Amino acid sequence: MSGSIGIGLLGYGTVGAAVARALTSNATLIAAQAGAAVSLRRVLVRDASHPRALPPGAELTDDPAALLDDPGIGVVVEAMGGERPAFDYIQRALHAGKHVVTANKEVMAKHGPEALAHAAEHGVSLRFEASVGGGIPIIGPLLRDLAANELTAVNAIINGTTNYMLTRMARDGLGYAEALRRAQELGYAEPEPSSDVQGHDAAYKLAILASLAFRTRVHADDVYREGIERLDAADFRYAAELGYVVKLLAAGRRVGGGVQVRVHPAFLPAAHPLASVSGVLNAVELEGDLVGWAMFQGPGAGPGPTASAIVGDVIEVVRCAASGTAPPPPPSLDRGLRLESIDDLETQYYLRLRAADRPGVMAAIAHVLGARAVSLASVIQKEPARDDGTAEIVITTHTAREKAVRRAVEEMEALDAVLEVSNLVRVAGQVV
Ligand code: NAP
Ligand code: HSE
Repeated sequence: MSGSIGIGLLGYGTVGAAVARALTSNATLIAAQAGAAVSLRRVLVRDASHPRALPPGAELTDDPAALLDDPGIGVVVEAMGGERPAFDYIQRALHAGKHVVTANKEVMAKHGPEALAHAAEHGVSLRFEASVGGGIPIIGPLLRDLAANELTAVNAIINGTTNYMLTRMARDGLGYAEALRRAQELGYAEPEPSSDVQGHDAAYKLAILASLAFRTRVHADDVYREGIERLDAADFRYAAELGYVVKLLAAGRRVGGGVQVRVHPAFLPAAHPLASVSGVLNAVELEGDLVGWAMFQGPGAGPGPTASAIVGDVIEVVRCAASGTAPPPPPSLDRGLRLESIDDLETQYYLRLRAADRPGVMAAIAHVLGARAVSLASVIQKEPARDDGTAEIVITTHTAREKAVRRAVEEMEALDAVLEVSNLVRVAGQVV
């Protein structure tokens, strides 16, 4: 076994502290796997005057140069989060010939190809297993084990916070704020939790997955995105009644000559494989021409699972370095596939609306939908009329085109009898 390799850790929050703990508690195992011992030398935080319990031998700093310019550090672990300065620090570390392991999905979704090219230029590794799916091995399988496949579809639940929240709201009747607070306490949520609930975090992860799966550059901004904020207790009740489970779905497709990438709440049939993925669990389903459908499942957030993925990457990097093996070349993402608009999506829809409870209203609504070739699958109006003379109506449609459904919603909202279309949720079939 060769000498010890110095680690520099950017960030000592939920993830950074868990990485430090794992490097200490599993030191013997890690050294045996990596072929060299690793030692945590420096830890960067925003505020070094705030005391932290660091492993013996590690120094705390709030000066990035003290860590990034330290010649004794061979591997930098980035667990700070955010786009900048994290991306700048990653680039500086790569430029200085240090290997980098990051958990940062925002950086990889916005600057991944540039950073990977920079790493290759400097003969070092940039690994990012923890950026998607927490503890689930998914980047490695995409880069290696599934490389022989033409991949055509990705369906995923890739945000632990929202999946935990939706599970607790549906099963235990928790309110939105309480469910979010508990997810934060458990260390699942992003430093800025709006990134989770507004779907940004899942969109970053889908951009990474779709880029690797379809071998084309998908930027975070290419992903159509809706968060979970519009979901109401009524939606959970109707979903259950209709035999569905509410999930924040991330879906990528090869369609025609292009790709379609979207993150939004979806009603999944209770028997769908993703419907039973509950709490902080994440899952990624992939369809390949050789493998068929393959599903990867496990804890998608939290300190332990994330440290598992990060330290696994550290071991791989050190193993390579210790044996003098060159890092693998960056994945080629040069297919230049066209981005398909959400307008062209064809699926079923759920609409919940509030309308005047009087004769002729249902006929007017049905007429609007019919004129746009949107066919009704079911209608529910069981709430008695409120004192204000309105009632809640729930409609599900047969498969229809997104653009047509959106136009129909606008036209319904313009009807005198319709007070509001309170929600529109896409309904998935057995294969979404
Ligand atoms: P966190 O608890 O908020 O910790 C962030 C840490 O980074 C803190 O120690 C903070 O310093 C430090 N930091 C932030 N900005 C900095 C700056 N400009 N300069 C120096 N230090 C800075 O966040 P986290 O939950 O550990 O997440 C960290 C990263 O892991 C994010 O990219 C996140 O997306 C990713 N991730 C998280 C999870 C999870 O389950 N939490 C799972 C997978 C991936 P102070 O302590 O001084 O504020
Ligand atoms: N906030 C993220 C989530 C952390 O809840 O999935 C894991 O990437």
